[in-house]
Amino acid sequence: MNSKKIGVIVEVDGIYAKVGMYNETNEAEFLWNGEILTGPKVGAYLTINQGMVKIIATVFSEKIIDNQNSANSDEFNNTFSKNTINRIISLKVKGVINNNKFSVSSEYVPMIGNIVSLTTKKELNIIYGLSDNTDAILIGKSLLEEYPIYLPINTIFASHIGIFGNTGSGKSNTLHKLYLELFKSKYIKKISKVSQFYVIDFNGEYTQENQFGLSNQYKRVFKINTRIESKENKIPIKKDYLFDADILSILFDARPATQVPFLRNALKIFNKDIKDEIAFADIEIGFLKRIIQEHRNVSADSLNNWVYAAKALGVDETLLQSLTLHFSIDYGNLKVKTEDNQSILDGEQISDTGLKVLKIVEIRNQLANKYKDLPPIRKLKCFLEFQRVYVSAWKSTNIEHINPLFKRIETSILSLEKVIEVVDNVEDTFKMLNVISLLDANQEITRLIPMLISKMIYDEQKNQVSNDGKVKKTKHLIIDEAHNILNSQFRRNGDDWQDYRLSIFEEIIKEGRKFGFYLTLSSQRPADISPTIMSQLHNYFIHRLVNDNDLEMLKNTMPTLDGYSFNMIPNLGQGEAVITGNSIKVPLLIKVNKETIIRPNSDDVILTSLWK
Ligand SMILES: Nc1ncnc2c1ncn2[C@@H]1O[C@H](COP(=O)(O)OP(=O)(O)OP(=O)(O)O)[C@@H](O)[C@H]1O
Ligand SMILES: [Mg+2]
Repeated sequence: MNSKKIGVIVEVDGIYAKVGMYNETNEAEFLWNGEILTGPKVGAYLTINQGMVKIIATVFSEKIIDNQNSANSDEFNNTFSKNTINRIISLKVKGVINNNKFSVSSEYVPMIGNIVSLTTKKELNIIYGLSDNTDAILIGKSLLEEYPIYLPINTIFASHIGIFGNTGSGKSNTLHKLYLELFKSKYIKKISKVSQFYVIDFNGEYTQENQFGLSNQYKRVFKINTRIESKENKIPIKKDYLFDADILSILFDARPATQVPFLRNALKIFNKDIKDEIAFADIEIGFLKRIIQEHRNVSADSLNNWVYAAKALGVDETLLQSLTLHFSIDYGNLKVKTEDNQSILDGEQISDTGLKVLKIVEIRNQLANKYKDLPPIRKLKCFLEFQRVYVSAWKSTNIEHINPLFKRIETSILSLEKVIEVVDNVEDTFKMLNVISLLDANQEITRLIPMLISKMIYDEQKNQVSNDGKVKKTKHLIIDEAHNILNSQFRRNGDDWQDYRLSIFEEIIKEGRKFGFYLTLSSQRPADISPTIMSQLHNYFIHRLVNDNDLEMLKNTMPTLDGYSFNMIPNLGQGEAVITGNSIKVPLLIKVNKETIIRPNSDDVILTSLWK
């Protein structure tokens, strides 16, 4: 198709040129071959035709000259005489299209007399590196030319994406739109088989029915709630990820000097030796026997503490009395004989009589039975209780330092068990899209869950790819309001959470791509996000941003952002954005389409209709 010719080059100065516009093209819009085209605005592209080559330039200013009134004075005003006014547009050359390829180059410069035309949609696609609309999703339209913009599925979704902008600028809408369009594409069937998407939703914006255009066949929503326990909202976490010394030290806020080593040691035994309830009962009975046999060396209250821990597990009190009645080491009083004067101890060992009167076998059975019925998180809690008795019995650890930890363990475990289900395998519990809403989660859990999930699914993905030797499946982690967890400010304050979490996400962002693991982040405060993470993003969607720190951050981390687009950022309207990065090499100004029905639960509140 022919392009619309709008003027001719009348002046050239290096890469700058001026176009004298034909009179009939001085409109904001005009019809051309049945299409409505937008007239050239500042910022828009124009094409300078020079033989086979098309020089691509952007408009940076326009003015009029009055041919009959160069003195610019009222007395000579001929503005309204015919043919006196010329519209002059100034251009800056950006590159060339040669053999259907765009390159940034100054090899060709405009020449006086070259015809200037509106850049066609086809040329625009060549400039942005967009192909036709196969394997692409419609996201919106270009802001200046108002052409529909199709983003390539491959380079967008196989990349780490950053969506930034002030509050209310349209980030959530853009994020949702991107994935909504992907799920609407013809690939959905296969996507649902080989790819999984996890949305971390701090504000419950993506929990409505039909969100992302998906039914429950493809989607599962977890409404994490630390106040009300509900089975179907519990998030499945593999045992190894929860029962991890680093995670639990952070969660229980363990002090480095004594509490962390205590936890580390306890978890080592718990994860390695306590395979089942029998192993548990054997370990704890072994411990009980040692308390009795070495009663001269253990601290005086060890037996009572052991009994206390067993009672907490639910072992029969009357059964436990056999221990305290027949064998007491309280206050140094040793009672090692039964009523009919038989010794409980035979040398160093517990005698057969001892085993009988102390009811060791019965206690062992009860320990095993009670333990068996506990949910995994309680199992750990129970084991830790015994472990506390253990370290205090031989005074290997000052118990005064350990006790405060247990208060925190109790409160943490109370919220943990409401929201987490410890499982052996997570393969089948997650669907294609998983929305994890943290709206009703307390702060502790809000900090914990995103990290657990991310680490877990990342490791799973990494293992799978290492086993298969190539990427057969992909995982996509989408975090709206990412500053909540990727804030780098706290790092200097020695906050363990931040350190641990950032190191996980920094690994994901550095290594994820080769394992088919992709991150999409959205945030109002790019300046708060760790620079390591910011600079490794591949594609950026920048909505309106006004804060200087944020703008500065973008300037430093986005290699493909040009001056013109950068200056536009503070002036963008709702839903307008600059896209740039791997996928779109030349920054592209777009207006993202707003969904009318299915969209995030994040609309501006209209006070006057609320108050009517
Ligand atoms: N492309 C768009 N076109 C028109 N209006 C939009 C567009 N995107 C978003 N909006 C409107 O702007 C408002 C804010 O949108 P959105 O919730 O997406 O912003 P946000 O950047 O995520 O804000 P926050 O940082 O507070 O989460 C909503 O009322 C929404 O309907
Ligand atoms: Mg939002």
